[in-house]
Amino acid sequence: MWEPEKIPWEEYDALVKKRLKPSRYEHSICVMNRAVELAEHYGADVTRAKLAGLLHDIMKNVDRKNMLQFIEDSGIILLYADLCAPQLWHAIAGEAYIRLELGIDDADLLNSVRYHTTGRAGMSLLEKVVYLADLTSADRDYPDVKKTRKIVDKSLDQGMLYSMKYLITDLVGEGKVLHPDTLACYDELVRRGVKVD
Ligand SMILES: [Fe+2]
Ligand SMILES: [Fe+2]
Repeated sequence: MWEPEKIPWEEYDALVKKRLKPSRYEHSICVMNRAVELAEHYGADVTRAKLAGLLHDIMKNVDRKNMLQFIEDSGIILLYADLCAPQLWHAIAGEAYIRLELGIDDADLLNSVRYHTTGRAGMSLLEKVVYLADLTSADRDYPDVKKTRKIVDKSLDQGMLYSMKYLITDLVGEGKVLHPDTLACYDELVRRGVKVD
């Protein structure tokens, strides 16, 4: 059962610190802060956003072999498209870790961790907040980050579309595969008439 008043914040903070490299821990704190900021701005649940931000990369520094093993042991069946994209395994494994090891059973929070790398069609408010907090946290310094932050502060949907365009162009440019959830995310935004320059 989701019991926000019983969240052991200090314990979770120590756990994230223990499991992640220092720079990744710093990133997690930055994403947590940005998620709170966006949740307050857009009326999402601040506690869920804060916790998802803190925990979203909890499996990031596990090596790939162990990550796959963990996913398998969790009973999750990976799609062929998932197997082709090792950079998103930490999101799948992260959701399983938070659900099975920490006993967090809030579906929206779990989804926000699960889809923080690919996005997906029909993302909830919380999912968009966490996805975009990860991309626009204070520690991010990719070339387009200032513009992305500005768009995200104006509209979550425009922020999602802008990020999808950036991500898809980047992946195609590098000759990498596109995950079907990413394509579905982009398609849904365009079909709903979201536009961004
Ligand atoms: Fe991540
Ligand atoms: Fe992240």
